Amino acid sequence: MDNYMKLEIAALGENEAFARSAVAAFALTLNPTLAELSDIKTAVSEAVTNCIVHAYGGANTNQKIRIECETVYEEIENPLFKERKGRIHIRITDYGCGIDDVEKALQPFFTTREGDERSGMGFTIMQTFMEDFSIQSKRGLGTVVTMSKSIGNTENFMIKERANA
Ligand SMILES: Nc1ncnc2c1ncn2[C@@H]1O[C@H](COP(=O)(O)OP(=O)(O)OP(=O)(O)O)[C@@H](O)[C@H]1O
Ligand SMILES: [Mg+2]
Repeated sequence: MDNYMKLEIAALGENEAFARSAVAAFALTLNPTLAELSDIKTAVSEAVTNCIVHAYGGANTNQKIRIECETVYEEIENPLFKERKGRIHIRITDYGCGIDDVEKALQPFFTTREGDERSGMGFTIMQTFMEDFSIQSKRGLGTVVTMSKSIGNTENFMIKERANA
């Protein structure tokens, strides 16, 4: 059965670890590998940090981050085995300043906070570790980052090996 969760958190630095762990815990229903879990945590961490640092400028004035996740199963029929793949869709929304030039923001090493220990690699990391990455943003209204990842392939792998034996 498809599954979902919604979470709203205050845009505080101390909530970043909670957010990434909460999404990872939710993803456990898909039986992910440790590497897949680690990718999801890293991507969520980058997205949430961007909301705190950029969307709201690091100042907490009662600002919100919304995190929505959905897990779905895709069944693939093969002659030798039945593949059951899971996919997690993640949407992270802020209601902050928005991004003026999304194309520019996506470029590796582009940052608007150079003197601030930022390397401009957050979006590149999200795109590398996840799939179907996209951003919608409007100046003054906020930003929505959407990404997904196909996970939970260990079981299929074992079936494949048995079929080949
Ligand atoms: N949620 C957001 N709201 C407004 N601007 C954003 C948001 N997320 C990213 N940006 C803008 O896009 C730029 C690139 O983001 P990216 O995460 O790639 O790098 P960074 O946050 O500057 O550095 P790093 O993630 O490596 O610490 C940011 O510098 C910022 O100007
Ligand atoms: Mg960043």
